[in-house]
Amino acid sequence: MTISTDLGSSDTRPTRILAIESSCDETAAAVIDNGRYIRSNVIASQIELHQQYGGVFPEMASRAHIEAIGAVIQRAMYDAGASWESIDAVGVTKGPGLPGSLVVGVNAAKGICLARDLPLIGINHLEGHIYSHWLEDAPISRFGENPFPLLALIVSGGHTELVIIRDHGQYELIGHTVDDAVGEAFDKVARMLGLGYPGGPAIEKAARSGNPTRFKLSRPRMDKPYNFSFSGSKTAVLYALRKFGGPVETTPAGGSPPGISPRIPVADIAASFQEAISEWLAEKTVRAAEAYDVKGIVVGGGVSANQALREKLSAVAGARSARLFTVLFPPLALCTDNAAMIGAAAHFAYLRGVRDQLDMDVLPDLKLG
Ligand code: KG4
Ligand code: ZN
Repeated sequence: MTISTDLGSSDTRPTRILAIESSCDETAAAVIDNGRYIRSNVIASQIELHQQYGGVFPEMASRAHIEAIGAVIQRAMYDAGASWESIDAVGVTKGPGLPGSLVVGVNAAKGICLARDLPLIGINHLEGHIYSHWLEDAPISRFGENPFPLLALIVSGGHTELVIIRDHGQYELIGHTVDDAVGEAFDKVARMLGLGYPGGPAIEKAARSGNPTRFKLSRPRMDKPYNFSFSGSKTAVLYALRKFGGPVETTPAGGSPPGISPRIPVADIAASFQEAISEWLAEKTVRAAEAYDVKGIVVGGGVSANQALREKLSAVAGARSARLFTVLFPPLALCTDNAAMIGAAAHFAYLRGVRDQLDMDVLPDLKLG
């Protein structure tokens, strides 16, 4: 029996993809059936390793990937109960990401393809975040058989982008950050507030007991309507800290989080920062959805786990715009980096006939569209 799962495509051939992801600080492998069903999803996190440096240390990241990659792939195959004969293709993140991290996953994928004579499919990591919406319950089906055009907001540690998706594999980048990525801004502000790494979840936690209206962070002026800038909000946090005898501008030797004076209202600053960021992201995203007349909005990337952003974006899309837009967020476990989303993207690429050669290079600055 063939299950029609590939929403937006008339091709319903069943596939089983082994997917590999190693673009930053997670070593991940997954086995995905028909671009939708997660047979296994294994992630070896390096968070503890990088916590001592207050951020991702690229050299350490690639070495940790080398140590983990073999066992992670074996585990993904084992958990899925998959034989090598049952695999149709290997999908792997080819970029964007840290070069030394990307090469570990790509070389592992090439070795498997060479040994088993399997097709190799290089996937854009950001495309993976988008395809998390096609997995398991396939929330994308809320937009009908053909969900396009769609607007994607990608908010991660390395990217903040607004992308129009016209069809599978057809992207138009309409906005991006001109300085820090939003996750990066969360991580830097968390460090300034002595909250440690990764900063996004730490700020979200601290903000729960804070007053989001206490500090007004001014909006950056932007030349292009859908571009973002977050470095100004970082500076605004610094000024707020100064009022209270802060800041803690540098990370002390040894990389441990800086100590912070009890006089500093950390919760209020965290809540105000999170509020401002969520508001800017929500307004620009909904404005773009209106201008491009999309069927709906999908959000992806680590920062899409943030509850304040979820609530703000849903509220603005559902009330303040001329048209109501449905906004989809991935399940929390699929917001941060994983290989299941790479497997979903690779399924659609496989059906489109995308094949890469064994001389495929990694593309650390790869763009969407
Ligand atoms: O997508 P991701 O796992 O890796 C990249 O592709 O960059 O995103 C990681 C980023 C980090 O900057 C982290 O601080 C942020 O996502 N993040 C969050 C939350 N969880 C992770 N930011 C805000 N709120 C969260 N709950
Ligand atoms: Zn990511």
